[in-house]
Amino acid sequence: MRILLTGGCGFIGSAVIRHVIRTTGHSIVNVDKLTYAASEEALEEAGADPRHALIRADIADAAAMQQVFARFEPDAVMHLAAESHVDRSIDGPAAFVQTNVVGTSVLLEAARAYWAALPPPRRAAFRFHHVSTDEVFGALGPGDAPFTETTPYDPRSPYSASKAASDHLVRAWHHTYGLPTIVSNTTNNYGPWQFPEKLIPLVTLNALEGRTLPVYGDGSNERDWIFVEDHAAALLLVLTRGEPGATYAIGARQPRSNLAVVRAICAALDARLPDAAGPRSRLISFVTDRPGHDFRYAIDPARSEAALGWRAPHDFEAGLARTVDWYLGKRDWWQAIRGGRYAGQRLGQAAA
Ligand SMILES: NC(=O)c1ccc[n+]([C@@H]2O[C@H](COP(=O)([O-])OP(=O)(O)OC[C@H]3O[C@@H](n4cnc5c(N)ncnc54)[C@H](O)[C@@H]3O)[C@@H](O)[C@H]2O)c1
Repeated sequence: MRILLTGGCGFIGSAVIRHVIRTTGHSIVNVDKLTYAASEEALEEAGADPRHALIRADIADAAAMQQVFARFEPDAVMHLAAESHVDRSIDGPAAFVQTNVVGTSVLLEAARAYWAALPPPRRAAFRFHHVSTDEVFGALGPGDAPFTETTPYDPRSPYSASKAASDHLVRAWHHTYGLPTIVSNTTNNYGPWQFPEKLIPLVTLNALEGRTLPVYGDGSNERDWIFVEDHAAALLLVLTRGEPGATYAIGARQPRSNLAVVRAICAALDARLPDAAGPRSRLISFVTDRPGHDFRYAIDPARSEAALGWRAPHDFEAGLARTVDWYLGKRDWWQAIRGGRYAGQRLGQAAA
């Protein structure tokens, strides 16, 4: 297969590329605008593989997208490019609407024109897989059942509203034009190469440097966590085994409160590099909650697990141990970001 993947220099996209290059014979053209969130280093050896090509382009650039389809002639699209940080969407929503909504519609139109002209067997086999979030479903109360594929949409932040809009566009292109689209909605990811503005890397690095660990509200907000490599493997299965028109809710059944996550990171670091000043949980500081902070997200992945024949191998503790070890071994990468292009910017806290 030739896969056109958008956002491949981001956290999840790069994990998908590493997974595809390591475990399949597929080739990938990676369309990425290389925003602040991109890291070409994250592609690792897959980046230099002849089956990978990086094209620096904006998914909202219609001419560029038409050209990519014409030149590369993909069998499938995996669409991950997005503005992805909730706090940034509160500070400046326009970029989220532009990339997540307008960009997705441009990509859909380029895909539709290309797909409509394919010979019948390739047309039937073509897939457009849109990668989305569980945040489109809104917030759960403490006793509510987790989200499933049929939970009604109720997005609350500019980020989740822009992702919800893009999900609706993707489904509309399926129902209206017959484009063979698939949507997956996934819980919070964590793991190697996550940009250090997101909760787990931010807390890990702040704790390592002896800085305060800001926790929104009382820390009881709950997220459901999946290790990024598990998500990458699931995404490839969604692409190859998923039914056009269907939605897949992907998760690992690992809900944790934000405070429990921060404490687990402190304990993992204390076990590896004890701090003479005492346990790193002393650095926890509760800060004013962010506006409209959703209380709880959780996914019931049972239907997707049955359909895909897959279950996430890592529980939270196993994935966190690998993540903390990875950040300890990758100081060059995150120190350059924290000391350079990200210096002086927000070091607040957020879930993905
Ligand atoms: N991180 C999570 O926990 C999570 C959970 C569920 C779903 N998702 C979704 O998965 C996808 C990937 O998330 P991520 O965490 O890897 O994001 P990320 O912010 O790490 O990476 C996004 C990538 O997209 C690129 N990009 C941004 N705007 C672009 C544009 N206009 N044109 C081309 N490229 C552009 C960036 O340069 C970057 O490489 C997103 O669609 C996100 O909504 C993320």
